Amino acid sequence: MEKLSVIGIGYVGLVSSVGFATLGHKVVGMDKDKRKIEKLKRGELPFYEKGLGEYLVEVMNKGLLEFTDDVEYAVKDTRYIFIAVNTPMDEDGSADLSQLLEAGKSIGKYMNTFAILTVRSTAPVGSLEALENVLESEGKIRGKDYELAYNPEFLREGTGIYDFLNPSRIVVGADSPEIAEEIMKLYEKINAPKLKTSIKDAQLIKYASNAFLAARVSFINEIASICESMGADVFTVAEGMGLDPRIGRRYLSPGPGYGGPCLPKDLMALIRMSEESGYHPEFLEAIHRKNESQIRKIIWKVKGFMGGVLINKTVGVLGLTFKPNTDDVRNSLSIPIITRLLKMGAKVRAYDPMGNENAKSIFPDDVVICDTVKDVFKDADLILILTAWEEFANLSWKDMEGVVRNHIIVDAVGILRNKVPEGWKVWMIGRGYL
Ligand SMILES: NC(=O)c1ccc[n+]([C@@H]2O[C@H](COP(=O)([O-])OP(=O)(O)OC[C@H]3O[C@@H](n4cnc5c(N)ncnc54)[C@H](O)[C@@H]3O)[C@@H](O)[C@H]2O)c1
Repeated sequence: MEKLSVIGIGYVGLVSSVGFATLGHKVVGMDKDKRKIEKLKRGELPFYEKGLGEYLVEVMNKGLLEFTDDVEYAVKDTRYIFIAVNTPMDEDGSADLSQLLEAGKSIGKYMNTFAILTVRSTAPVGSLEALENVLESEGKIRGKDYELAYNPEFLREGTGIYDFLNPSRIVVGADSPEIAEEIMKLYEKINAPKLKTSIKDAQLIKYASNAFLAARVSFINEIASICESMGADVFTVAEGMGLDPRIGRRYLSPGPGYGGPCLPKDLMALIRMSEESGYHPEFLEAIHRKNESQIRKIIWKVKGFMGGVLINKTVGVLGLTFKPNTDDVRNSLSIPIITRLLKMGAKVRAYDPMGNENAKSIFPDDVVICDTVKDVFKDADLILILTAWEEFANLSWKDMEGVVRNHIIVDAVGILRNKVPEGWKVWMIGRGYL
């Protein structure tokens, strides 16, 4: 059993803390957000994540996981310090390192024994050198007082703890094999391919993986448009493609594009990183452009059904989160789509099974967030489905007929593909007008 600390208890930090404690380590989770820490101390999750709550309570009851907002307490006498703060997108598309550097500074201030600082945040090439500078300003010298490592996280929100305990691979980048081995040892109970690399390679493994997933989404959206223009069915095409083991089925679901807290920002950061190093990544830019045009495409479909004018039309939106089975609305494509509809004069009523609360703080006040699906349909001129929640596949469309003004659906995710409602005009991604 090793004692370790995790700085930054967001999705990645909390899943890592609970995961490491489940592996039998003694973990201190530290976050500067006092309200979040108070909640966690009571054994409550600060966000929805399937199955994580049970693991959290179990490790807390065993005394293997505690939470604090005191960075000194978290890093004092600690050899393994993991950093999992956010690296959001800066205005120019590069990764904003301010949280990482702020965390590094506070760690540097209180570190009192040799430590291995392992970054779990998605952090670009060059960021660990910036971290080193910050630690130096606190009088801590790399190699003498501490070492750095990079251990990217590949979890998917919604299955975070499962992914931590059953990862596709564990990657540790470090300057020396001994440091990489020490970090790897913390995962010794996990049976997965384990890859020890340089820090740069580990950083690029993370960025390239996310760029590849984004590429798959943009690719299938391209094929969806081709299918629509030829009268083919993208869902059948994707199924047939996915049966090839060289291709696989994952990330071949057409929709409004890739959103969420990782893919958009990581692709942009890779583009910026690449440009700064002297290479112009045309292919990555095309992935991004396709994602942007997908947003416009969905808006055009809505506009087309409304005769080109959205003023005083009511659009009922089903789904706000960036994907189903999460309450996360960060960078969800519902945000630019709804914002644009509002700008064009539409009224928007929206509902999400899990994301309503988070949406209230992100969406403009003029979006009416509804407590029930039925509320969304009230006086709606068109229903727009933006997230593939299973709940929407099983709706009783017949019951809604007396509530809406028009029987029109734009299904931007294809959730109705197996049960297209009768008596409604439907446009579906990858199939066109039905
Ligand atoms: N969310 C995901 O699915 C996912 C998956 C893989 C990798 N990542 C990467 O992991 C990193 C974290 O993402 P996230 O979604 O967990 O972010 P998050 O915003 O949910 O969590 C970050 C946490 O860090 C805390 N924090 C910020 N500065 C701090 C400081 N100086 N000291 C202590 N705490 C501080 C914040 O209060 C917040 O709770 C990002 O780089 C992200 O790209 C995220």
